[in-house]
Amino acid sequence: MPVTCVFGMQWGDEGKGRIVDLLAAESDLVVRYQGGANAGHTVVVGEERYVLHLLPSGAIQPGTTNVIGNGVVVDPEVLFHEVDSLAARGIDLSGRLFVSDRAHVVMPHHKRMDEALEKLRGDDALGTTSRGIGPTYGDKVRRAGLRVADLLEPSRYEDVLPKSIEAWNAILARAEMAPIDVGAVMDETRGWGERLRPFVADTVAVLLDAWRGGKRILMEGAQGVGLDVDHGTYPYVTSSTTGPAGIPAGTGLPPRALDRILGIVKAYTTRVGAGPFPTRDTGPSGQRMGEQGHEFGATTGRPRDCGWFDGVLAKRAAATQGVDAVALMKLDVLSGLEELKVCTTYELDGTRIDAPPAWTGDLEACVPVYETFPGWEEDLGGARQFHDLPATAQTYVRALQDLLGCPIEMISVGAERERFIPLDEGIPVSV
Ligand code: IMO
Ligand code: MG
Repeated sequence: MPVTCVFGMQWGDEGKGRIVDLLAAESDLVVRYQGGANAGHTVVVGEERYVLHLLPSGAIQPGTTNVIGNGVVVDPEVLFHEVDSLAARGIDLSGRLFVSDRAHVVMPHHKRMDEALEKLRGDDALGTTSRGIGPTYGDKVRRAGLRVADLLEPSRYEDVLPKSIEAWNAILARAEMAPIDVGAVMDETRGWGERLRPFVADTVAVLLDAWRGGKRILMEGAQGVGLDVDHGTYPYVTSSTTGPAGIPAGTGLPPRALDRILGIVKAYTTRVGAGPFPTRDTGPSGQRMGEQGHEFGATTGRPRDCGWFDGVLAKRAAATQGVDAVALMKLDVLSGLEELKVCTTYELDGTRIDAPPAWTGDLEACVPVYETFPGWEEDLGGARQFHDLPATAQTYVRALQDLLGCPIEMISVGAERERFIPLDEGIPVSV
């Protein structure tokens, strides 16, 4: 399919990087369309492990062109660091990385403000990644942001920067915190424009050309629908449209360009940062998922909270994003659990509901209604066909597919490239 979208259906960390890496082998271009360096996408190739925050995960595949679209917030420090560290590991991005001239830039003061705002929120802190995401998107929406094109031209830069900083300083003054110094930010960022210049392009034109030319384009979503600014657990969300709906806005390709929508879900649920998490398990099962699944944030190193598969969250994501197929990740992590629970609906004040309520307080009061499945002891790492899975694991996967209402197209049973079960023909009907 010429234009495919891979995106997260939960609260991020579903394993998007791993799937993008696999699909990138059959793609000409890999594109980030939203988010920024708050993402942490991990790709394992043999003995090598790569964690990318800003570059598309396609960067690891030598033949691909990588695009950072206009909808992304670009932190040049992270970009330079990732380009340099890949170069040091023998991966050269010259000529195959394009950064949108319209993308907004994460400036040092945006990162400072991210931390300051969190401090001011006190007990209501969102638990952001401190990557300056909220303040940068905030500046974009209130039309005081700084774009890549501005960085390239000192006179434009000098004109735009004080406008962004002025508003933030007003907040800092009210909180009796030290103001941001325009001159210091100028000094800190001097040279960024020149370093960025070789990568900067009108990526809208690059993508339109590629699309019209029938190139295979892979869209790499960051975060997940649970963190979507509109469809997530607001205000405990990120600041962008994480699903395929973010693609036209964040790349300039028309909505009709999208051919295939592949949703990524983990076989259980995790969340990092603050916010409601109805199926969280604070007992030994959740702890085991965390340990077996190495559930630590790839960006911040924070331990992720773990819990049972939340069918309400995932079903809502499948429905709102028009998912064609699903990749089920980390099934192997569940080995050794005696019993597995799947949340099929929530109960709120004695009433069953099958969509997440709008208000955080209500969502916190929701009690998950579970269906229970027997677990399995076997290590799944060697499974390459559906029939290699123990019968109980097959039952569990079928139940998730039924709940989601869309086909599971592949199952991952380990971080290494080859550890997956392809299900191009769907899950076999008989056992
Ligand atoms: P990937 O792409 C998991 C979470 C943060 C916080 C909230 C807001 O690796 O799945 P932000 O810094 O975006 O303003 O933080 O969103 N968050 C993520 N959680 N995976 C991510 O990305 C995330 N990016 C942001 O923990 O709760
Ligand atoms: Mg992550």
